[in-house]
Amino acid sequence: MSRMPLIAGNWKMNTTVKEAVDLIKKMAGPLNKIQGVEKVICPPFVSLAPAQAILKGSNVKLGAQNVFYEEKGAYTGEISPPMLADLCEYVIIGHSERRQIIGETNDVINRKVRAVINVGLKPILCIGETAKENEEGKMQDVLGRQIFTCSDKLYFLSGMVIAYEPIWAIGTGKSATGDDANKTIGFIRGFVSRLHTPDLADAVRILYGGSVNATNINEFMSQPEIDGALVGGASLQPEDFISIVKQASESKRS
Ligand code: PGA
Repeated sequence: MSRMPLIAGNWKMNTTVKEAVDLIKKMAGPLNKIQGVEKVICPPFVSLAPAQAILKGSNVKLGAQNVFYEEKGAYTGEISPPMLADLCEYVIIGHSERRQIIGETNDVINRKVRAVINVGLKPILCIGETAKENEEGKMQDVLGRQIFTCSDKLYFLSGMVIAYEPIWAIGTGKSATGDDANKTIGFIRGFVSRLHTPDLADAVRILYGGSVNATNINEFMSQPEIDGALVGGASLQPEDFISIVKQASESKRS
């Protein structure tokens, strides 16, 4: 089956509302013209509504960077899935920065994934191993546990995206090689197939993330198992992000 490539820009905790608006205005036109690849921008929560207004009528989609698993109530400071449901289409869940800095566990991430699917949002579930786990040969164990727990009690995974982001490659300028990322993503797809169904594994899009830029995107997009990228730093540079999306659309066309 052919999977539509997806490039998502994770802005992390960058940009004021005004900066976000300026950035989206710069990128929206050129991104809108690029066909054959799904484009998702994930600005901070506070910029989702103004971004939505700018992107009205455009094929550029929005994602949030986090969510809470409860629907509503006394959870000061949290944002629920129904609050996001009419603002965006995707939600990044379980990013390694949240796992490491905020202490999110696989169980919490599983609750979040289930909560967003319930309201029709699409999760971009992030998984990945640390440098130490990689060196000690524990990568497959770690990734397997993350997928197993994070997708527990999920009976309807349609639209789910997985982002494989080796933690040692995030924001370091030291990406995985295309070949290694392809092998690991092949392992992840095989694991999803055994855990759920071969059809689901065939349909689920699996992205690579970690120091993706306009120079190395082709190395990833030319790999058969890699369906796109979750881009951090380079997604804040309009020319770089547009170039990444353009190259992604061209690479999967051939
Ligand atoms: P990076 O971040 O592209 O800056 O390495 C990727 C991510 O954290 O999603």
